[in-house]
Amino acid sequence: MEYRHLGKIGMKISAISLGTMAFGRWIDERASFEIMDVAMDRGINVIDTANFYGKGQDEPFKYGTGECEEIVGKYLKGKRNQTILATKVGLPMGQSPNQQGLSKLHIMQQAEESLRRLQTDWIDLYQVHRFDETTPLEETLSALTDLVRQGKVRYIGCSNFAAWQMAKAKGISDFHGLEHFVSSQSEYNLLSRELEREVVPYCAAEKTGLLVYSPMARGMLSGKYKAKGDMPEGSRAAKGEDLIQRYFTEANFERVAAYKELAAEQDCQLSQFALAWTLNQPAVTSAIVGASKPHHVSEAADISGWKWPENLKAQVATIN
Ligand SMILES: NC(=O)c1ccc[n+]([C@@H]2O[C@H](COP(=O)([O-])OP(=O)(O)OC[C@H]3O[C@@H](n4cnc5c(N)ncnc54)[C@H](OP(=O)(O)O)[C@@H]3O)[C@@H](O)[C@H]2O)c1
Repeated sequence: MEYRHLGKIGMKISAISLGTMAFGRWIDERASFEIMDVAMDRGINVIDTANFYGKGQDEPFKYGTGECEEIVGKYLKGKRNQTILATKVGLPMGQSPNQQGLSKLHIMQQAEESLRRLQTDWIDLYQVHRFDETTPLEETLSALTDLVRQGKVRYIGCSNFAAWQMAKAKGISDFHGLEHFVSSQSEYNLLSRELEREVVPYCAAEKTGLLVYSPMARGMLSGKYKAKGDMPEGSRAAKGEDLIQRYFTEANFERVAAYKELAAEQDCQLSQFALAWTLNQPAVTSAIVGASKPHHVSEAADISGWKWPENLKAQVATIN
């Protein structure tokens, strides 16, 4: 496994991170433990979770109920120091107005709740899940800085921020002497390249770590879906994930078929090809893989060190 500095900080993280969004939601505790066993065995040192992940995501009320953090916390007992634990705050954790967003009130409450569920005294990377336009960034950064100074958080990061939002946060942190976001977490894959316009250049220029989520387009880049409405048994689409649906366009099915041919020429699976592409993009530090089976993790680890050949860049460009 290759390890890379997360942006400009000293901490080094594995090129593959383990995403846990499905734990406690579609994947039970026993199966989650098996997936984490393989991840640790293969040198993956980052586990990415969120207070929001769990069964609540699928209920009509759509607020977090914490099962995922509970599973991760239970698993990490006795091996906490071998893992970089990343979690998130900001999405709804209840129906009342103060149970979501990035106010000091909510962040401080949720940090305590996450620490309790994760059965730990500290979070290595505490990420704000998405920008909160109703709370001043000064308030959010000040709350996060307090958590760092209290020893409850090591580093802070953002997720789903636009480049201007990251730049604004940097200015505020510089001016007030507050903690800086060391990383950004965003969706980026062969079928979703919006990030290249502003976020990738921002991260490269500011040496901000870039954690890429959904590197396989939520499973679309595994090639298991053949057409819109196709729901292979056991797949995420069959389990009811709505966010994968936006990948199901005619143009994307054509792209997937073309990428599959390129992957076959490289003697690898389409999912590995897609993952290797993200890992070879400028500014990307680590790809957060959303495995639903242990072999997904080993296949990701197998391809993690692959250096993308120059000639493939041109071939991929013809498909986009
Ligand atoms: N910050 C945010 O807002 C945000 C948003 C989304 C995700 N995330 C993070 O990113 C993580 C990963 O996201 P994601 O799950 O969308 O990532 P992904 O890696 O693009 O998709 C994962 C899905 O791809 C399929 N897959 C993976 N490896 C495969 C293989 N070798 N062969 C066949 N199929 C394979 C599986 O689908 P099946 O289950 O259908 O088999 C798996 O569930 C999450 O767990 C979470 O930690 C963060």
